Amino acid sequence: MDRIRIVGGNKLAGSIPISGAKNAALPLMIASLLTDDTLTLENVPHLADVEQLIRILGNHGVDYSVNGRREKQQKGYSRTINFSARNIVDTTAPYELVSKMRASFWVIGPLLARMGEAKVSLPGGCAIGTRPVDLFLEGLQALGAELDVDNGYVIAKTKNGRLHGNRYVFPKVSVGATHVLMMAASLAKGETVLENAAREPEIVNLAECLIAMGAKIHGAGTSTITIEGVEALSGARVRVIPDRIETGTYAMAVAMTGGDVVLEGARPDLLQTALDVLVETGAEITPTNEGIRVKRNGAGIAPVDVTTAPFPAFPTDLQAQFMGLMTMAKGKSRITETIFENRFMHVQELARLGAHITLSGQTAIVDGIARLKGAPVMATDLRASVSLVIAGLAAEGETVVNRVYHLDRGFERLEEKLSGCGAVIERISG
Ligand code: UD1
Repeated sequence: MDRIRIVGGNKLAGSIPISGAKNAALPLMIASLLTDDTLTLENVPHLADVEQLIRILGNHGVDYSVNGRREKQQKGYSRTINFSARNIVDTTAPYELVSKMRASFWVIGPLLARMGEAKVSLPGGCAIGTRPVDLFLEGLQALGAELDVDNGYVIAKTKNGRLHGNRYVFPKVSVGATHVLMMAASLAKGETVLENAAREPEIVNLAECLIAMGAKIHGAGTSTITIEGVEALSGARVRVIPDRIETGTYAMAVAMTGGDVVLEGARPDLLQTALDVLVETGAEITPTNEGIRVKRNGAGIAPVDVTTAPFPAFPTDLQAQFMGLMTMAKGKSRITETIFENRFMHVQELARLGAHITLSGQTAIVDGIARLKGAPVMATDLRASVSLVIAGLAAEGETVVNRVYHLDRGFERLEEKLSGCGAVIERISG
């Protein structure tokens, strides 16, 4: 199994190209199931999760081809991919595939809306909490789906071959359930109003895609989304937005090691709250024509309290990385996680690097120290893994991050991007 070896202590300087967002690419790819035309997606990141979803969609009959000029399609770089679901050959998403990635459960929405039936295994994914699917089921039922859960599978059917529009109020904000209901409602008969919908930029990206495919959607990016169902959707060409979590991760790396880096192609509006927090810690953040410039010189890192919450608040997917940064702050900070109940598994690994962190319920109290010391660490989920990489970059000596496959799920060419800015970081294969 691959490992990442880091020798910490170098400041980062240079530029890092920001890839297409994993969490936007996945729902856009799934939207290809809604049409028998070709959906062309630009800027699709080259990641293990994307490859896995290509396999899952292939099982339903979705063909894909990578296009564009050869020099732009180098291995490991974001690509333009055509998806064609002309013939859906299977409406079952089996356990062996869905259990590897939670987001693949989302195929239930488009399959049900286009084919009138779907049988989808209950999901797996990152071990960061129980992550139930009750909101998906309740929402689809509101659109007229008949559901049964049998043997670990959700078996869904429409009554007369088609879903019908309705009003659904999410009892809790859910990104995935908003994606699924927006896709399903696009092909339903009549109007659907989703209240307390997620407002994440990835929702807006999916709405743009659906609208380009002929859907009638208003209000994406606000908490009320209105969808007037249409008979059929067509193909389209859509660009995946830049990854705000990758952007925030590298910004935090610079804030922690010091240095001066331009995050090329990054969009500040996608992560304004996190950038504001970084400014409070003492980093200089400047939007530029190329993207976002992040700088920190001389002065230490100021402690800042943070609470995760749905967009536009501080994202849970940057919580672990921010905790990494706070381990070297000049004082105490409190980090409260409100989205996932079990998302502090990086705490014990950061402690192996010397961090002082105590847990009190859903809050971590971080007592900053002058310098972390390198150690072997083990990552438990995607964002936790990258928090250990950031901490390793700032720590004295050598850090080896084990179980790198988590990183490969969500960070494109991580070692290359960081070593291009002066970090000593390499992958050790086998
Ligand atoms: C997405 C992101 C993930 C991010 C999360 C929160 C993708 C592929 N993943 O995950 O990186 O951390 O948003 O920003 O985009 N919940 C229920 N019942 C449900 C559905 C969700 O109780 O039916 C709960 C979850 O357990 C969690 C909260 O709602 O506590 C938010 O989860 P949700 O927004 O659905 O996360 P995902 O879409 O899975």
